[in-house]
Amino acid sequence: MTSLQILKVLVRELITSERAIRIPEPDLVMDRAEQVEAYTTAGAEGGTMAPVYLFHTTQISQVLRPGDTVVDLACGSANQLAQVARLNPDVHFLGIDLSPTMLARARQLTTEKSLANCEFRLASITDLGFLENRSVDAVISTLAFHHLPDAASLQASFREAGRVLKPDGGVYFADLGHLRAEKSIEYFGRQYADRQPEIFTVDYLNSLRAAFSLHDFKLAAQAFGGQLAVMSTFLVPYMIVVKSAARRPPDERLARALRALRQSLPDHHRSDLKDLILFFRAGGLATPYLG
Ligand SMILES: C[S@@+](CC[C@H](N)C(=O)[O-])C[C@H]1O[C@@H](n2cnc3c(N)ncnc32)[C@H](O)[C@@H]1O
Repeated sequence: MTSLQILKVLVRELITSERAIRIPEPDLVMDRAEQVEAYTTAGAEGGTMAPVYLFHTTQISQVLRPGDTVVDLACGSANQLAQVARLNPDVHFLGIDLSPTMLARARQLTTEKSLANCEFRLASITDLGFLENRSVDAVISTLAFHHLPDAASLQASFREAGRVLKPDGGVYFADLGHLRAEKSIEYFGRQYADRQPEIFTVDYLNSLRAAFSLHDFKLAAQAFGGQLAVMSTFLVPYMIVVKSAARRPPDERLARALRALRQSLPDHHRSDLKDLILFFRAGGLATPYLG
C-alpha cells in the first residue's frame, strides 16, 4: 500500500459518519482443511503475513524471560508461535486452540522445525480450567480474539488469562481493530489480494468485520487491574496491542537474529514492516531492535 493510499483511508476513517457494526466470524473455530491450508501458507516464510509475524515476534520476545512457561491463546497452525519459539529456545510454550485441524498443522510445523519447546492442547481460550491460578509466566495471543462471538467472551478470555498469570508475568496480545467504514475494511482486506488465495482474502475481510473496538479491548484489559497498556496504530486502530511492561534485559543475540530475519524479507515485506513499526511508534509502541 502506498503512503497516499494509507492517507486516504486514514482521512476517511477520521471524518466518516459511518459506524460499521461488528459482524462475528462465520467460522468462529477455523477447522476447514482448505481454510487452515490457506492461513498456514499466508503465514509461512515469504507469505503475506511474514512482516506482521516478525513485528509481533519482536514485541512478544520483550515480555518473555529465559525459563518462562508461556501460553499462546488460539495459536492456530503455530506460524507465529514457531517463530517466537525458535528465537526463545529456553522458554516453554503451550499453544491452545479449539481447532483439531489447526493443532495438527501446528504439531507438524514444530516437528518439522525440530522445536522441542512447544506443546499443544485442544481447549477454549475462554476457559483455561486445566491451568492453576498464577501458574504461568506469560500469556500471548496474536490475531485471534476477533474469532470470539462477542465482547463478553473477550472479557472472559482476558479474565482467564489474568487468573492463570503469575504476579509480574508478561502479557502481549495483538489483534485487528474495528474500522468505521466498510470501504476501509474492503481496502485493508484486499490490499494483498493479488499475492494470496481468494479464500484467505475472504477470511481476512471476515476478520476485519469481526474485529473488536479499542473500547472493547480497554474494557477487557481491566481484568488485569490497570497493569496493561492498550495501544493501537496511529489515528486509526487498524491493529491493537495490549501488553505488560517489558521483562527482558537487553539481548544482543536476539537483536541480531531479529535483524537477520528482517534482512531476509523481500523488499515489499520490509516496506510493510517499516509502516507497521512507524504507525505503532506514532501510536505509542516502540519496536526494540528494529525500530
Ligand atoms: C486467525 S487464527 C490466529 C492463529 C494464530 N494466533 C496466528 O497468529 O497465526 C484464529 C484462531 O483462533 C481459533 N479459535 C477461535 N475461537 C477459539 C476459542 N474459543 N478458543 C480457542 N481457539 C479459538 C481458531 O480455530 C483459529 O485457529
